Amino acid sequence: MSKYNAPAAVPVARNKPAMNEPVIRTEKLTRAYSMGENAITALREADLTVHAGEFVALMGASGSGKSTLLNLLGLLDHATSGEYFLEGKPVSSLRRDELADLRGRRIGFIFQNFNLLARLSAWENVALPLAYRQGEFKHQDQLDRAREALARVRLEHRVEHNPMELSGGERQRVAIARALVTQPAVILADEPTGNLDSNTGVEIMRLLKELNAEGRTIIMVTHDASVARNASRLYHMRDGMLKEDE
Ligand SMILES: Nc1ncnc2c1ncn2[C@@H]1O[C@H](COP(=O)(O)OP(=O)(O)OP(=O)(O)O)[C@@H](O)[C@H]1O
Ligand SMILES: [Mg+2]
Repeated sequence: MSKYNAPAAVPVARNKPAMNEPVIRTEKLTRAYSMGENAITALREADLTVHAGEFVALMGASGSGKSTLLNLLGLLDHATSGEYFLEGKPVSSLRRDELADLRGRRIGFIFQNFNLLARLSAWENVALPLAYRQGEFKHQDQLDRAREALARVRLEHRVEHNPMELSGGERQRVAIARALVTQPAVILADEPTGNLDSNTGVEIMRLLKELNAEGRTIIMVTHDASVARNASRLYHMRDGMLKEDE
């Protein structure tokens, strides 16, 4: 048995924030879109606090602002007003390159449609976040870490496959391995089971729960209540307003 078969091969995030410092905290985070005459406030003054090791689910109707919030948390978008503190750092003060760097190191993002590059093998897709950090990881190091992450999602036998040669559930597991490979502070998942049949969705949820049990912090968007039940805390969104369920 190679070392890649060991189940919990990827260690939990380094650079842990100070005790009690939330991994994520937002203060009146707001995102408005101007559409000609009209403005759409997709997110209104959202206050969210997530501590290390939590598994938080975000539910709400289509158009209620879930992806808007998750994209802000993932540093894929800028707030109109309010503040977002990632591991205590106010992100509004950061330059573009600092944001890109922070995103690459501290955020793991899982998309509904997997977002894998079709021309790359499973391991090359997983290694992309390492490859972007130019010069930091040698080729062999990238391969080793990608294999380790693929073993964590039980895909050690699919390292050289292209996305086209994988099932939907396997593609999402590759995407999860890509989100793990940098040992991020938080994993953000936007409808990770939305494109999967229900059995495959259950498998993916089992995997996310295992990762959380190992200490990883997860925020997941879903509009499936049975999926949301896997989380330890639940928020609802309605017309851009965020509210925690009692
Ligand atoms: N780039 C944009 N420009 C203008 N309006 C946008 C933009 N992105 C989102 N919106 C609007 O903001 C609102 C919230 O969208 P968002 O994608 O966050 O919803 P959602 O809760 O993720 O919905 P779904 O469950 O369908 O994915 C919607 O009314 C949407 O039309
Ligand atoms: Mg959405």
